[in-house]
Amino acid sequence: MKNVSLRRTPLEMNAEEFRRVGHSLVDRIAEYLTWINDRSNPITRAESPEQARYLLSSEGLPSTGMPAEKLISKASQLLFDHSLFNGHPKFWGYITSSPAPIGILGDFLASAVNPNVGAFALSPIATEIERQTVRWIADMIGYPTSCGGILVSGGNMANFVCFLAARKAKVPWDVRKEGLAKSERLRVYCSSETHTWIQKATDMYGLGHDAIAWIQSDDRQRMVVQDLRIKISEDLKNGCVPLLVVGAAGTVGTGAIDPLEEIASICKEFGIWFHVDGAYGGFAAVLPEAPSDLKALRLADSVAVDPHKWLYAPLEAGCALVRNREALVDAFSYHPVYYHFDDHADEELTNFHELGPQNSRGFRALKVWLALQQAGRDGYIEMIREDCRLAAELFSALVRYPDLESLTCGLSITTFRYVPADLRAEGKKAEEYLNKLNTEILSRLQSSGKAYPSNALVKEKYALRVCIVNFRTTADDLMQLPQLVVKIGGETDAELRSREYKSSGD
Ligand SMILES: Cc1ncc(COP(=O)(O)O)c(C=O)c1O
Repeated sequence: MKNVSLRRTPLEMNAEEFRRVGHSLVDRIAEYLTWINDRSNPITRAESPEQARYLLSSEGLPSTGMPAEKLISKASQLLFDHSLFNGHPKFWGYITSSPAPIGILGDFLASAVNPNVGAFALSPIATEIERQTVRWIADMIGYPTSCGGILVSGGNMANFVCFLAARKAKVPWDVRKEGLAKSERLRVYCSSETHTWIQKATDMYGLGHDAIAWIQSDDRQRMVVQDLRIKISEDLKNGCVPLLVVGAAGTVGTGAIDPLEEIASICKEFGIWFHVDGAYGGFAAVLPEAPSDLKALRLADSVAVDPHKWLYAPLEAGCALVRNREALVDAFSYHPVYYHFDDHADEELTNFHELGPQNSRGFRALKVWLALQQAGRDGYIEMIREDCRLAAELFSALVRYPDLESLTCGLSITTFRYVPADLRAEGKKAEEYLNKLNTEILSRLQSSGKAYPSNALVKEKYALRVCIVNFRTTADDLMQLPQLVVKIGGETDAELRSREYKSSGD
């Protein structure tokens, strides 16, 4: 570079400095990836909010700056020493996957180039990569690749986007202009096992919780379609407007799959939008052996899936797919005077700000696009199949432990609980105690740093829940869990009983 006088600013880094600091960070991350594969290292140190806060300076915003090298070193140390590692082979909590290393690199590259994927003009190649990612995702789960789609921050957002497309399509007046002040009672239908996004959606988008018709679920946590039909018919008689039915392709609690094919035909009969929440289980539809109910997500008007779950993308990445692309445009598109994004409008042009709620948008698609190619369809089939196989293996192994009661096994989720011998045939009072006992066992397990399940409520029973969306987990890792639960369960039970005995004697 000749004769250019560079502006000196506190945030600039020259190439040499960037290379030095960057390489040392990559080295630390590579060490972390080795560290995490050593099973004896803890998943978490279970620090309290006060302990975590103490690690940060209590002083205000510094008025003078600090060298980047020192800051990156300090930040890596804080994060590597004081985090909960969902990339650990024994992390099976909630539905958070281990992040694919190629996704880590993808995010790094994406923020270096920093395309604004709101408009093609601002992100030509990134926009086309996102379009291809959406097509590949649809193809992977057997959904029409002609659909509209967009990457968003996660499962909640993907469901919201689909919800808003349905609202625009099915409310019988111009809802974007007139809002929801009219008297018609709009209704949405979902099973009692539905994730809490539905409450947020009805609340945020003006319908209110009372618009939800909760449909019964059966013994296997699947929607009872007869109840759905009855509730829709009653609502129509009462002059309500049925908007959409939500079917689950893998419930958050137990991985149950609703009878999607039957729900689809009821929706067709009544002209209701059929939405599938596949945030957890949608990607399992890639398995050739997937149940036909799961594969029936292809019949939906919209599907939410979550690459940061079963595509193992680092947070954040969700994806909304809508069969009729125009329904997304109708729900979200505006053309403000201050945008000049319509050059090439004579070609097939995508400006993603017209397909979702965000305006400026980051390049989430890159990490997903990279991982899809690194593993390929076959690689994903192998990983997702193995996650499901491991959950089933754990479920079968539980019979060998008389103090453990197995409850459910769906997709890659197994639930069970600790039941001491003398409480096995007891009634309601014992159930209350068992719920309390298993709640405490879960807290102890999670803070042990040795295994990280979470919980579910299965027919009023507080269950320990193992959800495997983790390509690092092996059968050896998993088979140590029952033993650990029996040990912690025995200790916790003894302590709780002696506490209760003491307090009843006071
Ligand atoms: C079925 C289902 N829907 C929606 C969500 C919400 O997804 P996210 O946490 O990515 O917003 C989850 C999360 O676990 C889920 O399991």
